[in-house]
Parts: sequence; structure tokens; C-alpha cells
Amino acid sequence: MSEQTPALRLENITKTFPGVKALDDVSFSVLPGEVHALMGENGAGKSTLMKVLGGLHQPDDGQIIVGEQPVRMASPLDAKSKGIVFIHQELSLADELTVAENIYLGELPRKRFGLVDWRRLYAQTNEILKRLNVSFDARALVGDLSIANQQMVEIARALTVDAKAVIFDEPTASLTDAEKVVLFDVISDLKSSGVGIIYISHRMEEIFKITDRISVLRDGAYRGTLETSKTNDEDITQLMIGRTLDLSRNLAHHDVGDVVLKVDNLSCGHLYENVSFEVRHGEVVGFYGLVGAGRTAIAETLFGLREPTAGRIYLDGQPTRIHSPADAIRRGISLVPEDRKAQGLVLGMNCRDNMTLPQVDDLKAGPFVAEGAEIAIFDQYRDRLDIRTPGWRQSVGNLSGGNQQKIVIGKWLSMHPNVLIVDEPTRGIDVGSKSEIHNLIRDLAGLGYAVIVISSEMPEVLHVSDRIVAMFSGKIMRTFTSEEVTEDNLIQAISGLSADKVA
Ligand SMILES: Nc1ncnc2c1ncn2[C@@H]1O[C@H](COP(=O)(O)OP(=O)(O)OP(=O)(O)O)[C@@H](O)[C@H]1O
Ligand SMILES: [Mg+2]
Repeated sequence: MSEQTPALRLENITKTFPGVKALDDVSFSVLPGEVHALMGENGAGKSTLMKVLGGLHQPDDGQIIVGEQPVRMASPLDAKSKGIVFIHQELSLADELTVAENIYLGELPRKRFGLVDWRRLYAQTNEILKRLNVSFDARALVGDLSIANQQMVEIARALTVDAKAVIFDEPTASLTDAEKVVLFDVISDLKSSGVGIIYISHRMEEIFKITDRISVLRDGAYRGTLETSKTNDEDITQLMIGRTLDLSRNLAHHDVGDVVLKVDNLSCGHLYENVSFEVRHGEVVGFYGLVGAGRTAIAETLFGLREPTAGRIYLDGQPTRIHSPADAIRRGISLVPEDRKAQGLVLGMNCRDNMTLPQVDDLKAGPFVAEGAEIAIFDQYRDRLDIRTPGWRQSVGNLSGGNQQKIVIGKWLSMHPNVLIVDEPTRGIDVGSKSEIHNLIRDLAGLGYAVIVISSEMPEVLHVSDRIVAMFSGKIMRTFTSEEVTEDNLIQAISGLSADKVA
């Protein structure tokens, strides 16, 4: 269609890992000044294709052409020198180094005799940070930054290079709305300066907002390319998973039972104040609000990771103190955390052991853990959550991002908790599995579990919740039943505007 020479082309790329054909004869190209989305289910091969382009993996077959030139990307630094910048799905920064050192790693500015020119380093770093409008400076330690700010450091690193192509692998997963605006501005700047942008995301609204074309992978194979302005959700989903989804379908509703969890005037410093709510058996309560509204801190208190400064928690009517996660687990409270990498998984450990980790003591037969029981648990949740892995022996670190998330969910489900708290349960999960996880959450409620769902995605909370607690700046603004909630009154509540003020 277009006569323009692509900024780069990947031709007939094949890549196999033990037991997995991650990429099978995939071709893909991006034009200068184009935002090209790469989509596909969890494990479809998106990150692997980009790791081939970024010099992290060598392809078994196929070639990469930059401009007119076939090239080999020997290493990430080599790819960078050829103008390929990669912003990773799992952050790849060194925690113990400063922001400036991370940005210029391997290329620190030098004075005579090879000494690092720190003044220049900090000055040029701050110059770039200014463009991104961030609140930290060049000397900050990366380990002290929030995940969102760490992401901004990766983006800053991209801006130091004379890039031909920039790859964003699920960049918005942990950004606030304000940070997303900054990111989209950066992308738009790069685009108008003629850089080709490859954008991986599971979020349809972003795809429609910023991309020009969409290419789809399925099971490691190329399925086709669509023009964003001429397509819709259904066509993309069809190409991705081979069927369409009816997302408007009503989920199962159940009778609710007695109150399991009651929180009375709970406060935790300035994180949240005077929070009161109840959750009943068979009920899903959604917590909706902006990032930083205090939702995760409440979840962490209920899971024994934070001590409340005032107020009480009751379980089955009894006042309870929860001092540690072990305490919480003993009382039947499970938390699927928001940051799976830091809190949820041991990446070097295999899939089965990650899933059964909190239960090892219970599964013991004599001095040994009963292997059969562990494998049975793994198999059950692999099938139920459609976890894509060649087997339980695979290290979790080798699974795709979305499949790692499913392992964390499986781990906590397999404990049969009374109260299950899930924090951003479908972050990084593809559309097909997302609706499966929503069904699963409803099914769990049907079995009598009390479920708390924290989510920043309005369609998600609206879809799964019986009641919705709207939070703003550490306070509960309002609690809605599913009958009375609308998108408008929910947005009002989480913006800190009370209904009467608006009217
Ligand atoms: N280093 C590795 N060793 C073994 N298998 C791997 C490795 N890296 C990826 N895989 C496998 O290759 C397949 C493709 O994974 P990839 O990470 O590319 O998926 P993805 O499309 O990025 O998915 P997601 O949306 O979940 O991030 C998966 O089956 C994954 O488990
Ligand atoms: Mg990926």
C-alpha cells in the first residue's frame, strides 16, 4: 500500500525454546513516524519477537533489516547503537544505581584519563528528565522510586538515543492517568520526528487512541495487520483468539450470606482514614478510585502487611488483629498483590512450586512435601486459568507476563480462602483470559467466598461487583449497589466531588 521504506523489517523470524515454538516464521515491519501495535494473547510471542529485535535473543531463522541493510543484533547495546530502543515489560533497571547511571549505563560520559564526568552526567540527565516532567532528579536511587517512576527512567533512557524505532512493551501497566498523558505526549513527539514506534498493549482504548496499524500474533504465528481507523474491538479479538467475546453478558448473580469481614473506622496514618465497610459471603465488592486513593493500603492492612493506626477489623463478628501475612492466611484471608514481581513470585522457581508455596506445610507427608498433591493442584489451576507453559518444571521467569499473573492468581485460589482480595487482577492479561478471570471471580462468590476486587479499570469493577466502594484521597466517598451505580456518579465520587456539589 505505502511506498515508504520501513524503518525496519523483521522477516521470517523463527525462535524455539525448549518445548515451545515461541515464533514461527513471523514477518513484521514498522514505518517511520508510525505507531504500530503488536497484539496477541498472553504467550503469543510479542515480547519474544521484540527481544529478537532488541538483541536479547538470537533468532533460529529469519533476518532483521534496518533501512535497507540486513543486520545482526548481537546484544542489547548493539541493537541500541543501531537505533533500536526497548522499553521492557518487566523493568530491567539496576536498583542500587542512580537514575543517571541507569540511563547512561555502558556509555557514561568520560573526562580525560577515563574518569566519569559526573557533572556532565547529571546535567544531561536532568535535561532529559525535564522533558518528561517528573518529580525526581538524576541523583535519585532507582530502587527508591515507585514502579511508575522507574518506567519513566526507562523512557528517559530511550530519549538519549538517536532512535529509528522505539519498542514499548506494555508501558502503561503501572502508570497513573497523568503519567499516561506524559507518555502519550512523548510517543507523539517521537512519531512526529519520524521514529517508528512499536506498541504492545492489551488495552483496547489505548490501541485506538494512539496507533496507526495493528499486527496480531497468535500462538507464535503472524495472523494479519489491520488499519486502526478501519477496524474495531471485535475484528481484533477475532484475529487474536479466533472467536469474539460477548463482554456485555451478565455474570452470574448469587444470594449473599452473612457478613464475613467488617471494617470499622479503620485508619492508617495519612494513607487512609475512617474507612468502614462490610463484605458478605457470596459477595464481590469492588474498590474503585485513582492510583493513590488508598485502596492498596487497605488491602495490605487486611493482609497483615500494615498495622492500622485506629479502628477495628472483625472476622465472622469477632474483633481480630492481623499482624502478619501468616496471620492473615491462617484466618482465611488471601491477597493477590498488584506488583506480582516483587510480592507474588519467585522467578527462578518452577511453576508448581510457586503455586503451592504458601501451602507447603499443609501438603507435607512426613518430612517430605507430597509431590503428587502439588502437581494435582498445579494441573487443576493450569486448566482452569488456561496457563500456557510446557509443564510445571518451567521456571516462572520464562513464562510470558500474563501467564505469570495467572500463576499468582492460581496460588491464592488454591488456598480456598474465606476472603479473597485481588488487586488489579487483570493487569497485563489478554482480553480472552480477562473475561475468564471475571467469570472465575463471580464463580468464587457463588461458592460463598467473600471477594474484594481493587481495580483501576471502570468496566472491570462495574462488570464484576455486587457493590462498589468509591475512594478518593484515603476516604470512602460513597458505596454504590450495582443497581444505583452509573459511570457518571462513579467518576464524580472518585474525583472527590460529592453529588450535590456537582448538581
Ligand atoms: N526464555 C524463555 N525460555 C523458555 N520459554 C520462553 C522464554 N521466553 C518466552 N518463552 C515462551 O515463549 C512464549 C511466548 O512468550 P512471550 O513472552 O513472547 O509472550 P507475550 O506475547 O509477550 O505474552 P504476554 O502478553 O503475556 O506478555 C511463551 O510460551 C513463553 O512461555
Ligand atoms: Mg509480553
